[in-house]
Amino acid sequence: MNYYVFYCLINGIYLSKFIVKLNKMDIDFFNAIHEYSQKYTMDPSQELNHIERETHLKTLAPRMVSGPLQGQFIRLLSQIMQPDSILEIGTFTGYATLCLAEGLSPQGKIITIESNDELENMLLNHFEKSKFKEQIELIIGNALEIIPTLDMMFDIIYLDAGKKDYLKYYDLILEQLKPNGIIIADNVLWSGKVLDTIQNNDEHTVTLHEFNEKVYQDERVDNILLPLRDGLHIIRKK
Ligand SMILES: C[S@@+](CC[C@H](N)C(=O)[O-])C[C@H]1O[C@@H](n2cnc3c(N)ncnc32)[C@H](O)[C@@H]1O
Repeated sequence: MNYYVFYCLINGIYLSKFIVKLNKMDIDFFNAIHEYSQKYTMDPSQELNHIERETHLKTLAPRMVSGPLQGQFIRLLSQIMQPDSILEIGTFTGYATLCLAEGLSPQGKIITIESNDELENMLLNHFEKSKFKEQIELIIGNALEIIPTLDMMFDIIYLDAGKKDYLKYYDLILEQLKPNGIIIADNVLWSGKVLDTIQNNDEHTVTLHEFNEKVYQDERVDNILLPLRDGLHIIRKK
């Protein structure tokens, strides 16, 4: 099985035009593997299931939510690290915020930034019901402007906002990451489009490809690009 096929396998729900190269049996197989992996991963809490349902009922682009498999992965990473400080860039409906919060140290805090003020009431409602409500700070605004004003260093930074800005974010957030801290950057495979930036020369695809290249070449960090769902780049500051 080549890499492309493997990527599609764990990303079965992103059936973009690229996947028409695959036959139906491949797609069924990928979806089955994704479902099997999800089935044998610990179940999300009722609270997370509720947020996922609401995301599908009340938002226009529900596929932006991290969802159960990726959510439990970032939760586990956070639980292993027991961070004092987490920054999330792009809150959406708060699913990943609550996954990441599971690992916070008792005095730990997560700051999450969302530019869409129409999501504010839903988010405050989700966070208010959470056992982590005292540890979550929601900031509504443009993360590119807000991050330089945050006078603190972070153990984990989850980068999940506008893809065309990933290079700008990288320069900003590496400064504010503690040594041994990690950046988790989502969607770095962009439905497989990064495999061919000549044919797919739109701004998002090209930026994400340059982002992956920059991280790979950057001697200040260790990294792994995981083909989980739409691609997660895990970057550790040395
Ligand atoms: C993929 S969604 C985030 C999903 C969320 N992290 C999760 O896992 O459920 C991206 C979010 O980033 C927000 N966003 C886009 N550009 C932004 C910016 N410059 N500053 C803050 N948020 C931004 C969008 O409004 C959207 O809600």
